Parts: sequence; C-alpha cells; structure tokens
Amino acid sequence: MSDLAILGGKPTRTEPYPAWPVHDERDVEAVSNVVRSGNWGGHPYPGPQTAEFCRRFAELQGGKYAVAMANGTITMEVALRAAGIGWGDEVIVPAATFQATAAAPMAAGAIPVIVDIDRETFCIDPKGVEAAITPRTRAIIPVHLASQMADMDAIMDIAERHNLIVVEDCAHAHGAKWRGMGAGTIGHFGSFSLQSSKSLTTGEGGVLLCRTEELALKATSIIDCGRPHDANGELVTMGANFRMSELHCALGVVAVERFPAQFAEREETAAYMDEALSEVTGIRILRRDPRHTARAVYCYTFAIDPEKFGATNHVVCAALHAEGISASPGYSPMNKYDLFQPQNSRLPVPSAFPERFEFEKMNFAEAECLYNGESMWLNEGVFRSGKQGVDDVVNALKKIQAAVQEEGVVERIKQAAGK
Ligand SMILES: Cc1ncc(COP(=O)(O)O)c(C=O)c1O
Repeated sequence: MSDLAILGGKPTRTEPYPAWPVHDERDVEAVSNVVRSGNWGGHPYPGPQTAEFCRRFAELQGGKYAVAMANGTITMEVALRAAGIGWGDEVIVPAATFQATAAAPMAAGAIPVIVDIDRETFCIDPKGVEAAITPRTRAIIPVHLASQMADMDAIMDIAERHNLIVVEDCAHAHGAKWRGMGAGTIGHFGSFSLQSSKSLTTGEGGVLLCRTEELALKATSIIDCGRPHDANGELVTMGANFRMSELHCALGVVAVERFPAQFAEREETAAYMDEALSEVTGIRILRRDPRHTARAVYCYTFAIDPEKFGATNHVVCAALHAEGISASPGYSPMNKYDLFQPQNSRLPVPSAFPERFEFEKMNFAEAECLYNGESMWLNEGVFRSGKQGVDDVVNALKKIQAAVQEEGVVERIKQAAGK
C-alpha cells in the first residue's frame, strides 16, 4: 500500500524551503538613503545609484558597458532596436523559454523564428539555428536556461558566418561562465532580468550588457525617451521611458555585494544534487558541457525517463509537491505557450512567407517530449538548504519511484491531482 503524501501518507519534508529574496538592514538602509535624497526616479539618467549598480554589475559579469532598464524583456527589445533590427527581420529564438524571449522581437517589429532545443541540455540546438537561417535573419537570442548554458561557441560561429547579432538571454544566468567568460559578454548583448524570482533581484528591473560603447549609448538613448547620450549630444533616437529607478538600483548595489556567496552556495549544492540524483532509477542528469565553467542555479533541471521511472514528469511533480517539494515541468513549447500571443500583436502577416506566422501548425518534437514527459525543474530554495534539502528531494523521488511500480498508483496520483 502506497504511503505517498498525495494519497494520504506522511510528507517527506514538512519544513518549507528558504524564501527568496533574502534581505537585511543593508537593503533598508540603501533604500532609506535614496528616499532621503529625494532623487527617487531614473531621470536624469543615470543617477548615482544607477551608475554604481551598472558599474558593479558589469564588473560582476566581466562586461564593459551595462545599461539598467525597466525589466528583462525590454532589454531584449532595446538590444535589437539598438542594432537596427526591426520590421520584417527574423530573429531566432528557442522553443523552450519564457514568452518574453519571443515577444521582445515582436515588440521591435521583427518575427520570432522558433527553433527546437537539444534534449540533453534543454538549450537551443545550434544545428536547428543554422537550418532556420534565411536572407531575412538578423539575430539569434540563445537562452541560458535554468542552470544550463547554450553552446556559445557554436552560436557565435554561426553568427559570424552569417553576420548576425547575438543577444544572450541571461535571465537565468547571473554569474554563469562559458570558458571563463561571463554569460552576456560573449554575444553583442547580454540581457538580464532582475525580477523578484531571479537569482540577483531588485524586485523589478533589467540590465543590458553591450559589447561596445556605441551600442550602449544607443540603448541608453532608447530607454531615456530618445535623449542623446553621446559626447556631442547629437544622437537623438526614437525612444520611450524604460529607465530603472534609483530606488531599485540601490537594492541592486546591495544585491551584487551579496551575490558571490549565494552563487557559490547554490553551485556547491547543485554538484551534490548531481551525485545524489544519479542514484535514482529512471532519472537522467543533464549533460554539463565542460566549457560551461561556472553554473548559475536559477532553477535546477533534470530529466525523468518515464519508462524506467514508471511515471511522467507531470505525475512526479504533483506527487513531489505533496511531499513538500515544489517542482515543475518547465515551459511548454513556445508555439503552444499560453502566454505567447502573436495573433494579438497586430503585426501584418508577410505575404511572401506567411508560414512564419502559422505558429499553431509548428511542431518542436524535442521541446514537446521534454515538457510532456521528461523535464523537471526544482526551485532555487533547495540549493540554499544544505545537504538535508537535497536529501529530501532525492528521498521523495525514490519514494515516488518505488510507489509508482504498484498497479494503479499513477492513476490515483492523477486523480488526486485533478489531472
Ligand atoms: C528566460 C527569460 N527571459 C526573459 C524574462 C523576462 O524578464 P522580465 O520579467 O524582467 O521582463 C524572463 C523572466 O521571467 C525569463 O525567464
């Protein structure tokens, strides 16, 4: 008889995992100082907190030019616009990511071209990128997903051969490194979200790392209502107010200070998780590329082999949740992602290549197979709760794996979860 918590048994873990974001008196002090200064907003741009945050963030990632802005979606739209990409251009994005990666090109007037992912890494498949290039392709947005990094050597090689702009979507990759280079410093741009779930957060916000000063000045002008930011005061652009406020940047200065210790703790605990998970029947640890030299753990991803484990990821997530461990199957394929609504964009469907807008007819087999069977995402809090936090996950998975061997248990879990 199964003792799974979802079927009325005792949960593996009763203590909640640590909450995020963490904060202390330093945050209170930093925000209070800005309040007292009366200089709360983002105008004139950049204010002292904004300049300091940008300097520290660029240093953290090993980049040169950082521009703070409203969020980690606008960062990608601004990057594309600063590079002169817009109406009718095609921008390649992966099939498994948050809707923002595909929505940002549309906001710039471009068409997102979705490419399948590599099932071993969950990141964009460079072979698919190469195959998707047309004379209209202008940019690639690889996403460093969850705790993985896209193959940046292959992406940059393709970009150089086809003269394409690369915007790394680093919303999950604060502190990550590829061959010692910081995420976001390899392509022309690195886009970071600072939204409250992110590993380095200011509540809301975003930072764009730019490869050149010229691109950074253009991006600054776009987010500052088009005001000129070049030395001669001549570069007026079409822009809007996408600035980040001094209050948020003050939190960012403290967050950068705290970040290295948090990063190290998550990375060390993730290494322990790799080892511990490899003992569980039917679980596949993702391929870790040796060039991926520092791993950021926004979420930790691994895969279930439904045949060997005895259940799919959706069933396992429901059972895990009841065991006191929150987990999710991740993103559905972009063309089926509820939040992605190209039909509402009012972009005219190009008559020469209408198939680019037939999202409902597209099929991304690898992303589909992951979402509907294999992929598992664990929350970051697990990686700030020591070995016990990891052991609880592994014990709960072993318990579920043993229980689903019993006849009828999978059906009972589905019923209990309302699926
Ligand atoms: C992969 C990815 N890209 C972009 C974003 C967008 O960031 P923001 O919410 O700051 O606009 C997110 C955020 O949740 C994300 O997960």
